[in-house]
Amino acid sequence: MKVATSILTADFNNLKAEIDSIKTTDFIHLDVMDGHFVPNISFGYAVLKNLRKITNLKLDTHLMIDNPLDYIDDFAKIGSDYITVHVEANKPLEAVKHIISKGIKAGISLKPKTKPEVLLPYLSLVDLILVMTVEPGFGGQKFMKEQMEKVKYFAELREKHNYNYLIEIDGGINEKTISQVHNTGVDIVVAGSYILNAKDRFQAIESLK
Ligand code: DX5
Ligand code: ZN
Repeated sequence: MKVATSILTADFNNLKAEIDSIKTTDFIHLDVMDGHFVPNISFGYAVLKNLRKITNLKLDTHLMIDNPLDYIDDFAKIGSDYITVHVEANKPLEAVKHIISKGIKAGISLKPKTKPEVLLPYLSLVDLILVMTVEPGFGGQKFMKEQMEKVKYFAELREKHNYNYLIEIDGGINEKTISQVHNTGVDIVVAGSYILNAKDRFQAIESLK
């Protein structure tokens, strides 16, 4: 299992030390929130633009914003390896195509109440499907295990049609909920509070792997 650590609740005044403390993670997961698509506001280009100077870790950028198309160039510039947009946002297909045109891996995400069939037009295009296992907006929420049905659906379609996407889940992952994730087709788990609140962050990352 690959692990993407969300730095949503990291101490941004000590970002270098925070990132050193999770350096065994496979990805840094960047939760960008605009206060419209989700009720919360997090961080954007101005805060992230120097991230590449302090880390070579892969950046997995999750845009929880209404108009992703307007901001993709910025998140390409910070050195994102993956950029994921929500199917519930404005112009998601254009956004995905724009990400691909920049040579960056493109992801599409869906909220818990969105039906998985809505992603059908994206499956042959994207590199990543991000299944939300909490309502987006906040860290520290309870894992919605029924969302794993969507994982099964996307894993079966991948098998059947030879699609290339990875499957990632986001929200409520910890040492207990991870047991419901093994052998389901999930390639990457996002974890925020479980890792950042752990006494030993390396051990927390290892336990999920
Ligand atoms: C929720 C974010 C998640 C969140 C994960 O909107 O997309 O990435 O930070 O946090 P935990 O692991 O605390 O559920
Ligand atoms: Zn996220």
